[in-house]
Amino acid sequence: VSLVNYNTFRIDVSARWFAEITSEAELVDILQSKFIRSKQVLVLGGGSNMLFTKDYEGLVLKISIPGIEVLEAANSGAADEVLVRAGAGVSWKALVEYCVANGLGGIENLSLIPGTVGASPVQNIGAYGVELKDIFYNCTAVEIATGERRVFTYEDCAFGYRESVFKSALKNQYIITSVSYHLSKSAEINIHYGAIQQELQHRGITHPGIADVAKVVSEIRVSKLPDPATIGNAGSFFKNPVISVEEFERVHAAFSDVVNYPTPEGRVKLAAGWLIEQCGFKGVIEGRTGTWKNQALVLVNHGGATGTAVYEFSEKIIAAVSAKFGISLEREVNVL
Ligand code: EPU
Repeated sequence: VSLVNYNTFRIDVSARWFAEITSEAELVDILQSKFIRSKQVLVLGGGSNMLFTKDYEGLVLKISIPGIEVLEAANSGAADEVLVRAGAGVSWKALVEYCVANGLGGIENLSLIPGTVGASPVQNIGAYGVELKDIFYNCTAVEIATGERRVFTYEDCAFGYRESVFKSALKNQYIITSVSYHLSKSAEINIHYGAIQQELQHRGITHPGIADVAKVVSEIRVSKLPDPATIGNAGSFFKNPVISVEEFERVHAAFSDVVNYPTPEGRVKLAAGWLIEQCGFKGVIEGRTGTWKNQALVLVNHGGATGTAVYEFSEKIIAAVSAKFGISLEREVNVL
């Protein structure tokens, strides 16, 4: 089965076996079947954070579990709080649109992120001042080895910047089947992110609501990021490096304009896009791959690129940033 339509980088590799899963019961059945024994399993949601460098010799499970439900928050003092539960296969973009259309706030800054609900906790997706962990309530998942169902609370997930237990201690062990989010009918909007503030001001919107924020965020994303429907990509290819204050002082002494954000933990986050651009890599085209013209942190497939070519290009970027700044970039996408 070709996976070209199942990864947003549009890398043309194939999977030995492929199954689309539309319910948790179906997932448990397949995980407890004889067929699955001794097979490697790869879980795909939207395939928007994945770089395939070779064919997959195991079973790909494409998770398409549907459904969005709004539950009044159980035993919560605040009447305006609601829980929204969505199936792992729901597109993230559709979930945000549903919530915004129904006046449920807290999620609007995460408009237009590609991928699915099931993937949202795995890498703790985030953008424009909000992270998934800020609205996460819990999720259900099934253990690959046993088919047993488990509920993961916020604490269980051990969220960090583009990190969770599903990428670390329990990597490749559980398949998320649904996620619940706590949202609010009277949410305070979050417009701390400079670009949002500027855009709202520019439009003369003085009392923005969640729909205004969703609209502005969507438009900023469209202006900066390539649309995977036309140009293969997986969003930010690298993480923004988080370094110690001492290391920051060293970089800052040599490059006084280094773009940086202090973190609540007393460290400093650098903009990887800036580091890459300084190395001359913004909008570079190398064969069929390259960096995006408006955002150097995004690697693209201009058509027909192999995963290996993209990977090798990313190695070159890592080497350049390391040579110039002494900082090692870490990939954010999963390389397979
Ligand atoms: N910058 C440059 N050159 C570039 C790109 C960025 O100089 O080519 C500098 C600019 O100073 C800019 C700053 O970097 O102001 C930050 O850029 P941007 O606002 O585009 O955000 P980012 O840090 O590059 C992160 C997330 C994105 C998310 C945006 C907005 C990561 C790895 N990426 O990117 O998430 O949309 O913030 O919040 O944290 C993703 O994870 O796939 C993703 C797209």
